Amino acid sequence: MNAALKPASVSAYDVAAVRAQFPILASPVHGKPLVYLDSAASSQQPATVIDAVADYHRSSHANIHRGVHYLSQRATELYEASRHTVQHFIHAASPREIIFTRGTTEGINLVAQAWGRSTLTAGDEIVITAMEHHANIVPWQMLRDATGAVLRVALMDRRGELLVEQFTALLGPRTRMVAMTQVSNALGTVLPTQSLIALVRALAPQALVLVDGAQAVPHETVDVQALDCDFYVFSGHKLYGPTGIGVLYGRESVLRCMPPWQGGGDMILTVSFERSTWADLPAKFEAGTPNISGAVGLGAAIRWLQALDMNQVRTHEQRLLGRTTAALLQVAGLTIIGTAQHKSGAVSFTLQGVHPHDLGTILDAQGVAIRTGHHCAMPVMTFFGLAATARASFGCYTNDADIDALVAALQHAREVFG
Ligand code: ALA
Repeated sequence: MNAALKPASVSAYDVAAVRAQFPILASPVHGKPLVYLDSAASSQQPATVIDAVADYHRSSHANIHRGVHYLSQRATELYEASRHTVQHFIHAASPREIIFTRGTTEGINLVAQAWGRSTLTAGDEIVITAMEHHANIVPWQMLRDATGAVLRVALMDRRGELLVEQFTALLGPRTRMVAMTQVSNALGTVLPTQSLIALVRALAPQALVLVDGAQAVPHETVDVQALDCDFYVFSGHKLYGPTGIGVLYGRESVLRCMPPWQGGGDMILTVSFERSTWADLPAKFEAGTPNISGAVGLGAAIRWLQALDMNQVRTHEQRLLGRTTAALLQVAGLTIIGTAQHKSGAVSFTLQGVHPHDLGTILDAQGVAIRTGHHCAMPVMTFFGLAATARASFGCYTNDADIDALVAALQHAREVFG
């Protein structure tokens, strides 16, 4: 935007007003105020989203795309309105490019199975990064095993930064798919996705690119056309929406060439016992009755987030990230795992002499919810020579008091374990 056209002043981010919209944040845990620092695993939902789903069930529920009666029409309108909301949120060119899925994992499996099995032959190459979580590793391994394709891994350094030169060296005439996360769930690293995709276009123009945006959409403005990716996947439940709903964005020209994945109702045009023909996009990839209320809730979550202003959310979370990093470094025996220059929303760490699971339990007794374990990213743990880390992750409702409570609980854990 032309600087001269920007509003003269942007009001400060009112995190207290944001928090007040999340009923669960007012619920005590173990008699203590809840300090929720596990938004990378699943974020909480504002009352607007909870109400939108409840209202849908109270007044609008029926099956979609199937009935001429009022409720079916109403449910269809709400479901399709959410598709348009998603389209505009990620700047897709058309609602036909938005496929509702169960979540990020299902989106990647859909691409691996529908695109991959019909396209790849032995020796074709799939490139992923060392930072992927299991959802962006295992589906490609299954595809490799089914087709004889080769899975190549772009490495990272000890800070958790992608080795771009090595990534570049993996790209070549056999590369057919590059599937990479935009933000590492275990390390918080933000990858230079746009420039990595530009490298793919230059060095492997025949390859498609899938971006796993599960950890990015809650924190960054996403424009799939500017990114120039072919596929983009994310989940509703990390975006202040319900579980069991997610999105696969696919470039229309690519989706058109793909066979369907699952067969059943809604994805067909005609069916006979001899053969069936497929519905147009996006229905071709939405077999069976979908998660209608989930889509309604996801639409409500996105509209709610858009009203907040993503730039302000981002600035707030980046400030918290800096403050958290500085405070954690003051805790004796604490090591931050993942020290990339550009991070977003999550800090992984270990505390000397305390197993992450014990740490998680001690913090929980203080009302502090963090995630401990391998974060569904075992290869990342292996790279750092760890079985597990503790991870504090943020949402738009995280405040300074949450960080203070985390640090106090960690100091308490230090005392308990001597
Ligand atoms: N992928 C989710 C996480 O990072 C479950 O915790």
